[in-house]
Amino acid sequence: MIKIKSLSKEYIMGDNKLLALNEVNISINAGEFVSIMGSSGSGKSTLMNIIGCLDVPTNGDYFFRENNISSYSSNQLAELRNKDIGFIFQNFNLLPRLNALENVILPLLYSGKSFKERNTLALDALENVGLGDRIYHRPNQLSGGQQQRVSIARAIAGSPKLILADEPTGALDSVTGIEIMKILNDLNLKKITIVLVTHEDDIANYGSRIIKMKDGKIIEDINNVSN
Ligand SMILES: Nc1ncnc2c1ncn2[C@@H]1O[C@H](COP(=O)(O)OP(=O)(O)OP(=O)(O)O)[C@@H](O)[C@H]1O
Ligand SMILES: [Mg+2]
Repeated sequence: MIKIKSLSKEYIMGDNKLLALNEVNISINAGEFVSIMGSSGSGKSTLMNIIGCLDVPTNGDYFFRENNISSYSSNQLAELRNKDIGFIFQNFNLLPRLNALENVILPLLYSGKSFKERNTLALDALENVGLGDRIYHRPNQLSGGQQQRVSIARAIAGSPKLILADEPTGALDSVTGIEIMKILNDLNLKKITIVLVTHEDDIANYGSRIIKMKDGKIIEDINNVSN
């Protein structure tokens, strides 16, 4: 599903160049659950943002489902992102003025689906994460775990093939974090590919493969035998 070849990302800050990713190579097959670990600043989010087409590399190639997307225009990238990829972030990234239902519907507006279809998909997704009784609550009327479930509903409503979760449990207590991981695990059982970033070993252990990064490079890539 994902093939990344000697991919680099350089940031220029004044006179200094910073190599956030340094010739990274990875392949991820459809249906995998991959956990990415590594110290702060090692390039995990930079890599996730490129995989998710939120950012573009400085050098190297990125193939998504066999297509070399290095040559895609920003419109093509936006379409791919909307259709095939769901995002979950540490701080939920929900819009505060919109209720749960409206937050989940929002990305579907660009999908070409009818009003009725969008509504049904959003309601189904919220039911799926156990929030059928909170659809009119705004983010500040929901607990952290509930907000993260809304963001999972938003990520899955468009039936993506790939879910990218950047520290999805980072802002949650451990019990709530495990609830979120169970939902991600269930999605993976339904064949959705998951790439997760975490700092916690027990969260990383949900993955069947664990990648460790350091200074913009992959320093370890192992099958997780304890999974
Ligand atoms: N927009 C940017 N401009 C300049 N430098 C950046 C930018 N984004 C990230 N960096 C730098 O790139 C490096 C990698 O950052 P990144 O956010 O990928 O780290 P991370 O592994 O996700 O860390 P954390 O665990 O703290 O989230 C860091 O040194 C960071 O300062
Ligand atoms: Mg990060």
